[in-house]
Amino acid sequence: MRAIVIPRHGPPDVFEERDVEERRLSPQDVRVRVEAAGVNFADVMGRVGLYPDAPALPYAPGYEIAGVVEEAGDRVPPSLAPGTRVVAVTRFGGYAERVRVPAYAVAPLPPSVPLPVAAALPVNYLTAHLALVHVGNARPGDRVLVHGGAGGVGLAVLDLARPMGIELYATAGSDEKCRLLEARGVVRAVNYRTTDYEVALREATRQRGFHLVLDPLGPESFAKGLRLLAPLGRIVCYGFSQLVTGRKRNLWHAVTTYLSKHKVNPVTLMNANAGVFGLNLAHLFDERELVTRGLAELVARAADGTVAPTIAATYPLSAAGAAAAHTCLHDRLNVGKLLLVRGA
Ligand SMILES: NC(=O)c1ccc[n+]([C@@H]2O[C@H](COP(=O)([O-])OP(=O)(O)OC[C@H]3O[C@@H](n4cnc5c(N)ncnc54)[C@H](OP(=O)(O)O)[C@@H]3O)[C@@H](O)[C@H]2O)c1
Repeated sequence: MRAIVIPRHGPPDVFEERDVEERRLSPQDVRVRVEAAGVNFADVMGRVGLYPDAPALPYAPGYEIAGVVEEAGDRVPPSLAPGTRVVAVTRFGGYAERVRVPAYAVAPLPPSVPLPVAAALPVNYLTAHLALVHVGNARPGDRVLVHGGAGGVGLAVLDLARPMGIELYATAGSDEKCRLLEARGVVRAVNYRTTDYEVALREATRQRGFHLVLDPLGPESFAKGLRLLAPLGRIVCYGFSQLVTGRKRNLWHAVTTYLSKHKVNPVTLMNANAGVFGLNLAHLFDERELVTRGLAELVARAADGTVAPTIAATYPLSAAGAAAAHTCLHDRLNVGKLLLVRGA
């Protein structure tokens, strides 16, 4: 079958389409024909060579897909029989014609949820839910700051936070993104490229700070985030986009930035009444119940309209499509989710 692989670390045009051998189906697995695959920032980090969990090269990236079951193992429930439209989380391999997935990581889709919408859900919304609600413990009236507010995870956080009565604040990389975020209900969005967001958000919260900061950026924002916390405030760290400086790897920058600056001191945290939590969704993929339940809940909420992912753009499910999507992420142009869609 055809897969879109990263043959070596490099810029977005490094992607190649290749024939790869299909993996044998175990009794608990399904094989899904991919119709839409989500593109995530972690795929970019893997491509440049800054993602420690990435498999050996060459490999096809991709953590989430939607498509149609083509083959099901003997022990797969009838709800996932061949022909069923499904959404799945994948441990790499989503940028491909077909993918093998264990049944616990697959959920059937009702006809009202289009396949591209389904492919936009798992990573962004599971991360947003875990960061905001599960570990972040945000409650009505809380002031929450999310960095990368106009990105895939950022807009999923906004989607979940709005009906909860949370006061959401955000940073983003352009005035246009900030205006859009405020039009959608963010109390104050700050363009970090033109404004010192620490100063601006201190003013915006009338010096009271945040109950929760959601930080996918890295050491610099982490230090500022700690200073912006209200007493008993928490930071959830779930990324290090700041390590990506361009379209190729800059290992020296990565090592010096990360190792020299990212320090958490328990005594400092104790005296500040501050909490720090690290979150890595990919390291939760073996938590079968969490994955199965999380996917089923997301599908139900997409069906009843209580979650609605913002899709920034769709590209063909091809090497050129993957290159274009990754270029868009590097250039920080996306507002919401990028997808690779068969026939787009
Ligand atoms: N730990 C987990 O389980 C988990 C799961 C999902 C995502 N994440 C992390 O969450 C973050 C958002 O992921 P996403 O997939 O939703 O991506 P995204 O936010 O849709 O896209 C990337 C956005 O990040 C911002 N950005 C900040 N620094 C950047 C840099 N050095 N290069 C390029 N863009 C940069 C840009 O927006 P602005 O300029 O407007 O800020 C850009 O548009 C990433 O750090 C990702 O690794 C973590």
